[in-house]
Amino acid sequence: MDATTLKALDGRRIVLGVTGGIAAYKVASLASLLVKSGAEVRVVMTEAAQEFISARTFRELTGQPVGTAMFGETSNYRVEHIALAQFAELVVIAPATANFLAKAAHGIADDLLTTMILATKAPIMVAPSMNVNMFENAATRENLSLLRRRGFHVIEPAVGHLACGTSGRGRLPEPEELATAINDYFARSNKRELEGKRIIVTAGGTIEPVDPVRYIGNRSSGKMGFALAEAAARRGAQVLLVTAPSALADPRDVEVVRIETACQMREAVLAEYDRCDAVIMSAAVADYRPKVVATEKIKKSEPTLTIELEKNPDILFELGQKKARQVLIGFAAETTNIEEYAARKLEQKNLDLIVANDVTVAGAGFNADTNVVTMMARDGSREDFPLMPKSALAALIVERLINIIRLNEEAEK
Ligand code: CTP
Repeated sequence: MDATTLKALDGRRIVLGVTGGIAAYKVASLASLLVKSGAEVRVVMTEAAQEFISARTFRELTGQPVGTAMFGETSNYRVEHIALAQFAELVVIAPATANFLAKAAHGIADDLLTTMILATKAPIMVAPSMNVNMFENAATRENLSLLRRRGFHVIEPAVGHLACGTSGRGRLPEPEELATAINDYFARSNKRELEGKRIIVTAGGTIEPVDPVRYIGNRSSGKMGFALAEAAARRGAQVLLVTAPSALADPRDVEVVRIETACQMREAVLAEYDRCDAVIMSAAVADYRPKVVATEKIKKSEPTLTIELEKNPDILFELGQKKARQVLIGFAAETTNIEEYAARKLEQKNLDLIVANDVTVAGAGFNADTNVVTMMARDGSREDFPLMPKSALAALIVERLINIIRLNEEAEK
């Protein structure tokens, strides 16, 4: 199967749960297909699954740590079952054994996978696979129907020769069929919830001129903001991207305004603020600018040179002051006391959500393709996320934005 036919999988965050059935070997090909189709896959295995296939296989195929034990060591996850539960857009269990279905149906949480299942709000898809008699057993039938009533999606097992020597219903569908079912699920759920909404996204690091050839800048690449603009446009929003210099090309279906300084960014954002529904300030705005910009190139003379700086406007603070119905999302790039500083910014800048990261962590922050963040919302809720690409994080932030807009609209009714 050509991975390009599975278009709806691109950028999707899938937790793949593998339980202990002989068909577990097929799931390696499934994981590979999902990854090749652009999905972000995290695998969680039960102990029994590891008797059939090694965690190492999945680690190599996904390039990510595999969750194998409730209290094991996994590098980037904080409280692992919670981080995975929040990360998932969809949880797929393949193969799902009779034992797993029984535990899921009755809320038993005695390992990482079953605990994560209870903790997630993401939809869950199960692909049962077992001996035909076990599949037809009244206990399994009832467990499955209970799970269906609770909204689980069931991929029916195929009829055929079973590994136990019998034949009948109980075979795990082939990896291509499983991948197609997952792709179809996302294709159906590709909603455009932001249709009719106007959203401003800022990106990049502003540059503040010193003289005609020099400036003060920072290491921001614009990747996070560009990914956010693209993610919001994909959900149907009309997006204005106000960006400081960045080497990145204009995202598809996005109006782009390129500026240089913090003052220019402020003007461009304020000009559209009244008409917009949300602002996501991911730009690294310079806090200070040279007080005087030399009109001629500064010549080298004295052994030291002092450049006096003056404060730039705090754009997000100003937006918070003028806020009417707009949803405001800010970022906090910190090196110490992340939560305390981020919580303070959330409050002081009158934000709905703040995305905080420790820029000293490997794979996080400026100019990286990935990030590790904690999100804090106005209602006091807080979510920690594992290391993920900025594109996946952008989709997640946009999902949170959609929720906030929906709650605000319900409250207005
Ligand atoms: N921000 C802004 N205007 C500024 C500085 C920051 O709009 N002059 C926005 C950023 O885009 C970000 C949020 O405010 O969304 C927090 O930025 P950050 O640099 O972390 O915080 P500061 O408010 O600058 O505070 P400090 O530098 O003291 O940490």
